[in-house]
Amino acid sequence: MKQLPLPANEQDRLKALERYQILDTNPEPGFDDLTSLAAHICSTPIAIVSLVDSDRLWFKSKVGLEATEVSRELTFCANAICQPDKMLIVPNALQDERFATHPLVTADPNIIFYAGAPLVTSDGFALGTLCTIDRKPRELDSEEIAALQSLSRQVISQMELRINITKLKENISKRVQVEQNLRGTNHRLAQILNKLRQTQVQLIQSEKMSSLGHLVAGIAHEINNPVNFIYGNLSHVNTYIKDLLNLLTLYQKYYPNPNDEIQREAKTIDVSFLVEDLSNILSSMQIGTERIQEIVLSLRNFSRLGESEKKLVNLHEGIESTMLILRHRLQSKAEHPSIEIIKEYGDIPQVQCYASQMNQVFMNILSNAIDAVEESVVKTQNPNPKIRIRTEISRPNYVVVKIADNGAGIPEKIQAHVFDPFFTSKPVGKGIGLGLSISYQIVVDKHSGTLKYKTQPNNGTEFCIEIPVK
Ligand SMILES: Nc1ncnc2c1ncn2[C@@H]1O[C@H](COP(=O)(O)OP(=O)(O)O)[C@@H](O)[C@H]1O
Ligand SMILES: [Mg+2]
Repeated sequence: MKQLPLPANEQDRLKALERYQILDTNPEPGFDDLTSLAAHICSTPIAIVSLVDSDRLWFKSKVGLEATEVSRELTFCANAICQPDKMLIVPNALQDERFATHPLVTADPNIIFYAGAPLVTSDGFALGTLCTIDRKPRELDSEEIAALQSLSRQVISQMELRINITKLKENISKRVQVEQNLRGTNHRLAQILNKLRQTQVQLIQSEKMSSLGHLVAGIAHEINNPVNFIYGNLSHVNTYIKDLLNLLTLYQKYYPNPNDEIQREAKTIDVSFLVEDLSNILSSMQIGTERIQEIVLSLRNFSRLGESEKKLVNLHEGIESTMLILRHRLQSKAEHPSIEIIKEYGDIPQVQCYASQMNQVFMNILSNAIDAVEESVVKTQNPNPKIRIRTEISRPNYVVVKIADNGAGIPEKIQAHVFDPFFTSKPVGKGIGLGLSISYQIVVDKHSGTLKYKTQPNNGTEFCIEIPVK
């Protein structure tokens, strides 16, 4: 058995071949054209672009042959690459002792004539051959040899082109990747910018709130004393007037016929109307001062939100006690049937929070819901005013209280303002526009929660109070 002929630089040669990443790729017209041309010029039935791998010949392109690869041992091409600067021409293999007994010669495809031009890279490695083959003895003239050699150089050019295109493609895909990364970074930057803007808005808002807080605290304080003074004295006034009226009645009883002057005066001031109206006036003064006190209380709560400590609280109890206070507003009245309350309490844990503040939130939002359904009864004849209170775990470590009404919803044009302090859409005397802004402060700033709402025209509004369990 003869030794496999090996080029001196075999290891580096294989690395060079590897560099082109061409083995086992699909046929390409650029190579096929050159192979056909070689067969045509040399008038042989077979032509091949054959690349010599470590243990096989692999055919990138071929004419007149079925196989795509053969074992490397002792082949013509394996010999040809050992002499990169010369062509290997075997006019008659049967008369050449190197090949005479080779199975490719003695059996199919019966190679008798072989001419292989080495495919030599610019740095001197013979990667394979462009070869022409015939089944009978042949000679090549000098023009045919020159043509085959220049075609082999074209094959190498084609391989260079190929690798350059691959590199270019890789480059492009790298660029696309970079572009994508850039786009991602851009997106993140935009998000950060957005967050910054939001923070800025929040800062401005909290700055506004704190100066507003001072103002409001001052006003509340100033109003508080005179109102208490009036309210405190109203009951005395009530008693005194009752006493005076009593006295008057006694006079009328025991002196049914007073003198002319008294009779005239009694007629002028219309005593019976005066007596009747006096009690009306007193009760409206009572209602009025109570209302002022309520307002003062909200104002004080508004400006004094930092007090007391967080405790573990059962939110359901808070909701229940708030409902108790609001019960009188749920009962049926001349203006509306009773308001139905649907409770869907979930299995929620106790929550670490400022209990009185959370109650204030429930109070504000439930009052708004009652206002909304009352209004819908009047304006759109809502036959079944109702409010649904649902509690649940919204995500790990967060609970949510959802308060939904079937009122008229929040009109789109005021949606941006409902959380603004002193924004109200209600008639003078009914709303002061602090409920939601206080609630927002409590839920978002004091409890790191969220306060959001969903609303649909004529389909009601749902407020979602979400706070962390701790
Ligand atoms: N459940 C609701 N349905 C419809 N509108 C609502 C609801 N809750 C709040 N609003 C709107 O938000 C405004 C602000 O509410 P709030 O801050 O509590 O002030 P007020 O109740 O004193 O008007 C209300 O005037 C109303 O226009
Ligand atoms: Mg309100």
